[in-house]
Amino acid sequence: MKTGKQLVRLLAGTLMGALPLHSMAQDAKMNSYVSTLMQKMTLEEKIGQLNLVSVGFDVTGPIVSQDVDSKIRKGQVGGVFNTFTPNAVRKLQELAVKESRLHIPLLFGYDVIHGHKTIFPIALGIASTWDMGLVEQSARVAATEASADGLNWTYSPMVDIARDPRWGRISEGAGEDPWLGSEVAKAMVKGYQGNGFDGNNTVLSCVKHFALYGGAEAGRDYNTVDMSRIKMYQYYLPPYRAAVDAGAASVMTSFNEVDAVPATANKWLMTDLLRKQWGFKGFVVTDYTAVNEMTAHGIGDLQQVSARALNAGVDMDMVGEGFLTTLKQSLQQGKVSLTAINDACRRILEAKYKLGLFTDPYKYCSEDRAAKEIMSAEHLAAARTVAEHSFVLLKNAQQVLPLQQSGTIALIGPLANNQRDMIGSWSAAGDWKKAVSIATGIKNLVGDKVNVLYAKGANLLDDTAILKQLNANGGEIVADAKSPEALLNEAVSTAKQADVVVAVLGEASGMTGEAACRSNIGIPDNQEALLQALVATGKPVVLVLMNGRPMTLGWENAHVSAILETWFPGIEAGNAVADVLFGKYNPAGRLTATFPRSVGQIPVYYNHKNTGRPYDGKSNEKYKSRYLDIPNDPLFPFGYGLSYTSFTYGDVQLDKQTVTGNQALQASITVTNSGKYAGEEVVQLYISDPVASVTRSVKELKGYQKIMLQPGETKTVTFAVTPELLKFYNSDLQYVWEPGEFIIQIGTNSQDVHSASVNWTK
Ligand code: BGC
Repeated sequence: MKTGKQLVRLLAGTLMGALPLHSMAQDAKMNSYVSTLMQKMTLEEKIGQLNLVSVGFDVTGPIVSQDVDSKIRKGQVGGVFNTFTPNAVRKLQELAVKESRLHIPLLFGYDVIHGHKTIFPIALGIASTWDMGLVEQSARVAATEASADGLNWTYSPMVDIARDPRWGRISEGAGEDPWLGSEVAKAMVKGYQGNGFDGNNTVLSCVKHFALYGGAEAGRDYNTVDMSRIKMYQYYLPPYRAAVDAGAASVMTSFNEVDAVPATANKWLMTDLLRKQWGFKGFVVTDYTAVNEMTAHGIGDLQQVSARALNAGVDMDMVGEGFLTTLKQSLQQGKVSLTAINDACRRILEAKYKLGLFTDPYKYCSEDRAAKEIMSAEHLAAARTVAEHSFVLLKNAQQVLPLQQSGTIALIGPLANNQRDMIGSWSAAGDWKKAVSIATGIKNLVGDKVNVLYAKGANLLDDTAILKQLNANGGEIVADAKSPEALLNEAVSTAKQADVVVAVLGEASGMTGEAACRSNIGIPDNQEALLQALVATGKPVVLVLMNGRPMTLGWENAHVSAILETWFPGIEAGNAVADVLFGKYNPAGRLTATFPRSVGQIPVYYNHKNTGRPYDGKSNEKYKSRYLDIPNDPLFPFGYGLSYTSFTYGDVQLDKQTVTGNQALQASITVTNSGKYAGEEVVQLYISDPVASVTRSVKELKGYQKIMLQPGETKTVTFAVTPELLKFYNSDLQYVWEPGEFIIQIGTNSQDVHSASVNWTK
């Protein structure tokens, strides 16, 4: 098997360079082409371009569009989503190109979120690699397969910052940190769009959900967001901005409100911020029926909300057909301008032009390419590598891991011999029947060298109300024919025969993702009971966790021997898990979202502010910012993750005690592999700004380096700190740095750091 770095080189090849730049000459050519076309278009045809319809396969809500074929013929459709495969796409494209009056080709979008058919780990897992080469690679493979399957537009990356693990969609993003989230956003856009759209293996990316969708109150999906501007700018907006700066071709509005105006009608957001301040040149699409939903938000009927969306800067209406059915009337009544319609239409046509669809509308419709490239050995190897790198070792007492390839293992749990849940939520085109179960992966690796005994031990859930709901939405969770007691007893007697128990437990994939929020974020009760019974056997228990969010794991952490967090690992799940359990790959993933001790701590995140009465975690003083019943600190902090080896840090060395103006400060630290395995460490740089004109986070991530160390090897890691890393948004929302003391912190996670102080003058 190839190493991560070899794969990155192999697959990234030519696409790691700069992003697409449309030259001025190209722009002029495009403008003239689009202008000429638009002169021929009727008002209805222009409005038609703003209409995005869902056809076929998966949907997340009602299909409003009826009679799509005839709408395409009449020029009433600008794009289609949820349809793929070269043949299906060709069929619809032919309707547009051959049978509509002006022969304008369609866009074909889809939720290619963590791989198309070669499913990678869920996005939260991909981010946990802290390896932007691999992040980019996952998007590159996804784009290659999607574009081979007829698609030219993906609704990814999802870059919503999330501090609330109750929110099911935390699984779809990169976690809680704006700096890391921005790095991931850039890498994803690069992976999808490559150097542009001249070839046929890149797709338009769509940054979503603009904006602040992850800030939903109480972690309940679609819920209200209410946030100060300074909080938006400092913590929530940077990843969207990074994706826009990286050249993302489109932006999707979010369902929530921003400053008491739904994002989809928010002119400040879509026009002032996105277009004027950030210089975004692509097109804006709504989320699924987000225009229509503004009626329920309480800002008007369909005609009113459609007009507001267009006036705010929305170009394309997903599914709801508010634009299609009301904009003409709104124009006649002076509620929208022809300029606004023209601008939106132009942006959609420009995207089609940039893709080259006017030259070759079928450029993504090659059956040959689909057969050759989709789920190629190379892509599967990439998925396996990314999965291995995404796992986070949360506990490893007495070095129970890696396992020896000998003796007897009891493999227990509803996710142990399971394919359905391996690929996680939003694996739209993925075929779970092709996923490698953990049982199969272990067998593939150890063959007959290990005696592997299996027992299911529990259903994924015994809660009938939740089961019913999950199964009504494609959960496919089958309750075992055996009673819960029989399952548990069988598991316990299996465990007793083994040297070590590997319990594969966690969430069903449908318990995560969109509209899958939970108020209790522990392992389901029946699985917890199984785990307790396994621990009671006295055998060492390795918990392999699968889940789409930070979970509350207090009991588990106190009682099991080892915990390996594997998220939902994707199509190569079993092979990747086996590689890590048996030490073929030494885990190096790090958390990108804090694991709370209990739901009552939420939101708990590393880059919080100090209060006026900060609690030191030790004293018994009453009037401090603290809980009576639990500590303030989380169970596992941001950046946390262990290795089979251990790393020892030296002190932070600064090359200057005082720095002036735009000078760079070199901050170094030595890291030694003090254990017995070769392994990677993610050396993290945090900066604190103890005195500023506005209150600052206690620390903020500003860099990291992932290094490989052989046993006994020491490396010096150096970060160049520039004033750019000291900047923040002040009360006037200016992005500035202020002179004074800064504390440079370097360490293995956000809590465990070594510090040195520096004085920075202007
Ligand atoms: C989701 C989006 C997704 C869209 C299209 C919506 O329900 O919020 O993330 O891209 O559906 O499928």
